[in-house]
Amino acid sequence: MAEYDYDVLIIGAGPGGYVAAIRAAQLGLKTACVESRDTLGGTCLNVGCMPSKALLHASHLYEEAHSGALAKFGVNISGASLDLGQMQAEKNEVVSSLTGGIAFLFKKNKVTWLKGHGRFTAAHTVDVDGQTVTAKNIVIATGSSVTPLPGVAIDQKVVVDSTGALAFDKVPGHLVVIGGGVIGLELGSVWKRLGAKVTVVEYLDQLLPGMDGEVRKEAAKIFKKQGMELKLGTKVTGVAVKGGTATVSIEPAAGGTGEKIEADAVLVAIGRRANTEGLGLDVIGLETNARGQIDIDHDFATKVPGVWAIGDVVPGPMLAHKAEDEGLAVAENIAGLTGIVNHDVIPGVVYTNPEFASVGLTEEQAKERGEIKIGKFPFMANSRAKANRDTEGFVKVIADAKTDRVLGVHIISSLAGTMIAQAAQAMEFGATSEDIAYTCHAHPTHAEALKEAAMGVLGKPIHM
Ligand code: FAD
Ligand code: NAI
Repeated sequence: MAEYDYDVLIIGAGPGGYVAAIRAAQLGLKTACVESRDTLGGTCLNVGCMPSKALLHASHLYEEAHSGALAKFGVNISGASLDLGQMQAEKNEVVSSLTGGIAFLFKKNKVTWLKGHGRFTAAHTVDVDGQTVTAKNIVIATGSSVTPLPGVAIDQKVVVDSTGALAFDKVPGHLVVIGGGVIGLELGSVWKRLGAKVTVVEYLDQLLPGMDGEVRKEAAKIFKKQGMELKLGTKVTGVAVKGGTATVSIEPAAGGTGEKIEADAVLVAIGRRANTEGLGLDVIGLETNARGQIDIDHDFATKVPGVWAIGDVVPGPMLAHKAEDEGLAVAENIAGLTGIVNHDVIPGVVYTNPEFASVGLTEEQAKERGEIKIGKFPFMANSRAKANRDTEGFVKVIADAKTDRVLGVHIISSLAGTMIAQAAQAMEFGATSEDIAYTCHAHPTHAEALKEAAMGVLGKPIHM
């Protein structure tokens, strides 16, 4: 009889866990995945990346049709109206087809889905709702959940987190968003486009922490121009709900005179924290770090032999593609291959309109490491963007002044999320700005702006 039930047991079927499970099975390992949700795919497919992108797309279509923005192209649409029930139904359809797709892939690859909550009872043993399961290797891929704001109770009706804000059944008259990060701006954009007044309250003096300083300043200009009210350097001191409306108390982050804002809905989006509670980590002697995450080594191994961890539950950006790549790598390491993730080249994208995309170092980080050169090219000077009347934004390439190696790329554009892949690939291959500048780019495309920004590093853009 085999020593263990499985070669690999993964706890959590988000982008980290389900990818790890499929790859482990592909590599010939007997694999099971524990997931407590009714559907596979984790936060990303159920209540994160995918439903938010479905609503961003649909709300963009509505805004284009409704606002008269297409009239300048000779496209006159009258009587465009919102059927929010249909928009939500289509989003739900997207989610169920994607989560069902993972169930299909599990079957196809012979991954066993153990439905229930997983909890360690020993280093190689997990209790799944009363069933004892053993495995030679156990991967923790339990993801993250919303960080609560002390004193602000989420009821998913008036005061919601991202999950509630993906499911409103009517457009709030006034939505107050607490937190000017990725979720606040993406979901704030959805409801703004559908007709809500949106006020964003951000503790720091700028939106989008972690992004390049120049990009963050530009973001504030863009969202203000779109009609969002931004209260930067401001903290929320309390939210009181009465009769279906909320009163949000705010004051300057540095202290001072407070004010109150009336809102029909409040979205709390102040970050996410690792899911480690109820996992029985203490039983196997695994502590969490000061940020509540599980520390791992270069191979995604924890300090407990046979126990590995990936995705949002470990340090690094909380992004689906980072979790997926770690899922591939951990499975390969468990199988005795060499699984590596280059954590210096992980793109990040905010899927608003325009999109904000970045990879590598910000200007501020790069300057701390040494002398740099910067090339910038505005979409105002890109012919395709001009033809499409889509000229907002720029590309910024940061290179090492001595070696010309590209250290970071930052893009604001309607197509930034797609364009950043080229920059990531170039950086993965150790490209210089000259390499990008002398790569032939198809004309006319937005991508030419990246080539021109790279030419700018060398001081020689053509169209500026
Ligand atoms: P998760 O996706 O969180 O999956 C973990 C799974 O483990 C969950 O299904 C959970 O039910 C299960 N689980 C936890 N504990 C247990 C247990 N003890 N037993 C059994 N099951 C358990 N990232 C992007 O890259 N792009 C985006 O556009 C994007 N949009 C987002 C939008 C929103 C609104 C949110 C909230 C997040 C978004 N993210 C996005 C972040 C992305 O969703 C996460 O980074 C990603 O899901 C992390 O994957 P994971 O596998 O680590 O964890
Ligand atoms: P975030 O970290 O992006 O932004 C949170 C914001 O809230 C920060 O700007 C922070 O300064 C602010 N804040 C914190 N406490 C506050 C307070 N008390 N009052 C006012 N502001 C406060 O976190 P967010 O937006 O909740 O997203 C969570 C995670 O989900 C992110 O780490 C992101 O990686 C992931 N995500 C990724 C997306 C993408 O890749 N497109 C989309 C949505 C989420």
